[in-house]
Amino acid sequence: MFKTINIGVIGCGRISGAYLSMANHFPGLQITACADLDVNIAKAKAAEFNVPKSCSVDELLHDDAIDLVLNLTIPQAHFPVSMRILQSGKHVYLEKPLGINREEGRQIVEEAARRNVRVGCAPDTFMGSGIQTARKLIDDGAIGRPLAFTAFMMSRGHESWHPQPEFFYQPGAGPMFDMGPYYLTALLNLLGPVRRLTGAASIAIPVRTITSEPKRGQTFAVQTPDHIVGTMEFESGCIGTIITTFATMHPMYDGNQPIVIYGESGTLRVPDPNLFDGAVHLRNADDADWREIKPMFATGYGRGIGVADMVHAIHARRPSRASGEQAMAVLDLMEGFLDSAASGQAFTPTLRYERPESMRGSEFGSAITS
Ligand SMILES: NC(=O)c1ccc[n+]([C@@H]2O[C@H](COP(=O)([O-])OP(=O)(O)OC[C@H]3O[C@@H](n4cnc5c(N)ncnc54)[C@H](O)[C@@H]3O)[C@@H](O)[C@H]2O)c1
Repeated sequence: MFKTINIGVIGCGRISGAYLSMANHFPGLQITACADLDVNIAKAKAAEFNVPKSCSVDELLHDDAIDLVLNLTIPQAHFPVSMRILQSGKHVYLEKPLGINREEGRQIVEEAARRNVRVGCAPDTFMGSGIQTARKLIDDGAIGRPLAFTAFMMSRGHESWHPQPEFFYQPGAGPMFDMGPYYLTALLNLLGPVRRLTGAASIAIPVRTITSEPKRGQTFAVQTPDHIVGTMEFESGCIGTIITTFATMHPMYDGNQPIVIYGESGTLRVPDPNLFDGAVHLRNADDADWREIKPMFATGYGRGIGVADMVHAIHARRPSRASGEQAMAVLDLMEGFLDSAASGQAFTPTLRYERPESMRGSEFGSAITS
């Protein structure tokens, strides 16, 4: 067993509970402090999850006992907070997106390399049995050469449930930067690097009315496209369509399997990339009906497996799976859709992408998170 890694958390909002409950499930990880702009929020989360200390962001960054910091702030704060974490000599694992544009992402990855510390970034859902099983089936030739795909993330937006929904409609969010990371990370893991893409985008619903508490009835202006449609051509030759939108109601596709990969000899229905598990269905040319494929990898993971993998990777001196480099490739594509929409030209990725190693059965034992 390796030395326990002490983890601090900055940003104690809605998603933080998923991470704060994580350390109980993975030996070698210990969450020792949490901080937020709002000290009362940090205090309340520390009490709820038995974290020994809540403190200011400055105090957390000056705590020499902390090795790694989870940056769970809003997208606009991902860059400045991550840079401060790196400059304090600590590893950072942050929520998606890596930055609100590729320049921010590039600086984070470069700063980490310069300081010889690691960057990890959500999502880690692709490490669950759903996407891993689909990836193995494709890699093993179960549908032959992938030719086409559809990927749909169609909703009416987050103002019906999130208590502070405004940030989802600012640059660095919108449906592509908010939900796109799940879909694009899954597609990259399933299909490999992208050759080029095109995008079309609009602000379809310019003013939003909040229907969640405590801001029910308040309105705000949308400041980034809330409806983005893209085509993607992978180096493998596979070509398909992605829609990410906060402008639609009653969408007509199977939300449990929103990605479908069409191959030469069969079709694969891929589970929700925002979740870890979920059914994979395969239908080959001669099949009378769909076949449900049993999970081929460990099930039951939750947000935090990416951090656990990063900690293992630091000890083993190997690349981590939910890496800064992968998040950078995703950020490059996300901005590429908006660049293409603005210019009317196809976009060619500015970076090389290499898929991370697929999961191995026994790696994290029976660790089950939330
Ligand atoms: N809510 C979800 O279901 C969900 C799911 C997956 C990922 N995420 C991602 O997690 C991140 C946080 O989302 P959330 O829903 O928890 O947001 P939230 O608004 O509920 O919480 C964000 C917290 O960060 C704090 N914060 C903001 N700027 C800060 C700064 N500069 N320094 C310290 N603290 C700061 C805020 O005070 C707030 O408590 C986002 O990147 C989001 O995309 C959210």
